Amino acid sequence: MKQNQDSDCPQPTAESNPIIIFDTTLRDGEQSPGATLNIEEKLTIAKALAKLGVDVIEAGFPYSSPGDFEAVQKIAQSVGTENGPTICGLARATEKDIKAAAEALKPAHKARIHTFIASSDIHLKYKLKKTRAEVLEIAPAMVAYAKSFVDDVEFSPEDAGRSDPEFLYPLLEKAIAAGATTINIPDTVGYTTPSEFGGLIKGIKDNVPNIDQAIISVHGHDDLGMAVANFLEAVKNGARQLECTINGIGERAGNAALEELVMALHVRRQYFNTFLGRAPESTVPLTNIDTTQIYKTSRLVSNLTGMIVQPNKAIVGANAFAHQSGIHQDGVLKNKLTYEIMDAQSIGLTDNQIVLGKLSGRNAFKTRLKELGFDLSETELNKAFLRFKDVADKKKEITDWDLEAIVNDEIGQPPELFRLELVQVSCGDRSSPTATVTLRTPDGKELSDAAIGTGPVDAVYKAINRVINIPNNLIEFSVKSVTGGIDAMGEVTIRIKHEQKIYSGYAANTDIIVASARAYLNALNRLYATLQPKEEQEAVTSA
Ligand code: KIV
Ligand code: ZN
Repeated sequence: MKQNQDSDCPQPTAESNPIIIFDTTLRDGEQSPGATLNIEEKLTIAKALAKLGVDVIEAGFPYSSPGDFEAVQKIAQSVGTENGPTICGLARATEKDIKAAAEALKPAHKARIHTFIASSDIHLKYKLKKTRAEVLEIAPAMVAYAKSFVDDVEFSPEDAGRSDPEFLYPLLEKAIAAGATTINIPDTVGYTTPSEFGGLIKGIKDNVPNIDQAIISVHGHDDLGMAVANFLEAVKNGARQLECTINGIGERAGNAALEELVMALHVRRQYFNTFLGRAPESTVPLTNIDTTQIYKTSRLVSNLTGMIVQPNKAIVGANAFAHQSGIHQDGVLKNKLTYEIMDAQSIGLTDNQIVLGKLSGRNAFKTRLKELGFDLSETELNKAFLRFKDVADKKKEITDWDLEAIVNDEIGQPPELFRLELVQVSCGDRSSPTATVTLRTPDGKELSDAAIGTGPVDAVYKAINRVINIPNNLIEFSVKSVTGGIDAMGEVTIRIKHEQKIYSGYAANTDIIVASARAYLNALNRLYATLQPKEEQEAVTSA
């Protein structure tokens, strides 16, 4: 698998050298509490990231679990193609971790091992229980070990933001000498301020003698809300790789958000050009990201992880392009530039929010989906169109957000092994919530049952449980309105746990009880598909 670097390549110019976007949604992002993704969901996100144009996908931490190993391997296989992104696997600075990463990454055309060891005194003393001298030995040895599998090796001194720079310099020098091609500087606990972080990068540039042999990367958490600002300061001081996640998800307060970094570099490229050695007026993009894919990718990650995006979130929040005050609306109507620094279209949204209705035909539907970047097969299109007609019967105006919810609901979901044929509830302040459901089973039988619950959704779930007898715990349930208005579609995201594994479900409908039932079935279908022996599957409905 060891890949050779092409030494005959023409020397890149400042213009042809974009800032590398390293996405860690599937590794650090997945460390967000409750954001666990199954392999199939990881693969779907990895494909979307490749379409978005990220340069490197950190697909997981292969040694951490068999599931992570398999996910990295599958992503390496189907996304790590010749023209696809580099696929990276995380590994602590141990032989076992590095070997597992190398093994999982084997199918990737471009593979990277990212190995790390803590460097702050506080981590050394309490976590690693190692001396600085020991770390100075382990790091280069493990970089060299990783290098025996792949050419592309990244090294991170964990908690660099709180590490003594005088210790970091020789540590990084040794890692580069041992073969690290990227050295990543993590602000692991989100502690530094922009000028401190910029200063740290400058110090590394000035004091690590062989720094010109490696790319400087940054990784940072948002505990004090400064991750993106820190990264931009790092870029000004020489960082050329940014480790970030979609919607900024990640450990604790999350990571620097990809969409914020990319759009800051896009909207303010003339400001950043000079720091990259480009002509100030250069219009050459600073990253390889196709910004028009940002919104769609954000929604996909939000739906699959169940991590809801706050309405006022920069770039991808529901209000990011909404003008509420009369003065602002008036200004925008006269000239958009009065209050808009970027075009909603540049992230894949459209000005034309109200697009389709009951009378819209298949062609208009197909054209709009194409404009929104959805590439559906004929069968998928037919399926989505039927759903669209159904929604349009209940909702007067179908916005792009509705269209997206319809597509996410219909396409890319697990096979509908159990199908909802009917759901009915009766509830109110004078009665016990009661639900009746009819489900079609994988072998075509129609089974009905009813249950009483603490609320209508609880009653529906209990009724479904009486038909599909798979024990599980509901660990998360969220309902969100897709747009404003009384006829808005509701999106339901849920997560259930069965034998330590988490399965997510998503559905959108104008009726939130129907959406809740379908989201639950969606998760159960995912779970059911993993039940291996036939007898185990059959036992589910014969209990
Ligand atoms: O935050 C951190 O330090 C990390 C490292 C593994 C890079 O996630
Ligand atoms: Zn991190």
